[in-house]
Amino acid sequence: MWIVFVCLGNICRSPTAEGVMRDRMRRAGRTDLVIDSAGTSGWHVGEQADPRARATARRRGFDLDHLGRQFVRADFERFDLVLAMDHANLRALRALAPDDTARAKVRLLRSFDPAAPAGAEVPDPYYGDQAAFDQVVDICVAACDGLLARVPAPA
Ligand code: 4NP
Repeated sequence: MWIVFVCLGNICRSPTAEGVMRDRMRRAGRTDLVIDSAGTSGWHVGEQADPRARATARRRGFDLDHLGRQFVRADFERFDLVLAMDHANLRALRALAPDDTARAKVRLLRSFDPAAPAGAEVPDPYYGDQAAFDQVVDICVAACDGLLARVPAPA
C-alpha cells in the first residue's frame, strides 16, 4: 500500500504527518507500507521542512528529513491513498484527479482518526505560533495511529 500526505507547501503539515507515520510504521514493523508527502503548490520544492516544524517534531521524537516536492497528476497512478490536510487541498487534489478511480483515493487525513469530528482538518500553522505547530504534531499522531490501525497488514 502506497500512501502520500498532501498539504499546501509540503514544508509543515504533510512532512510532519510523514515523519510521524514513519515512526509508527517502524514501531509496528510495517514494512509493507510506502509513504511520501507532497504539496499542491510548488512554492517550496527542494526545501527542507520549515525549521519550526522540524524543531517541534524533533522534540517529540520525530525526524523530518523530507525535501519539498509538488504533487503531480502521475502520483495518482503510484499511490493508493492521497491524504489531504484540509478541504482546500482536498478540492485541489480532486480537481487534478484524471478520473473517478483517482478521485476516490483522495481523503482527509483526519477522517482516519476515530475521535475527530467529520470533516476535521489539520490547521495550517505557517502564520501561527508554537502552539499551532504543537497542535499539528498532536493531530498527526492521532490520525496516523488511526490510519495504521485501518490499513490492514498483508496476510
Ligand atoms: P504547509 O504550510 O501547507 O503545512 O506546508 C504552509 C507552508 C507554506 C505556505 C503556506 C502554508 N506559504 O504560504 O508559503
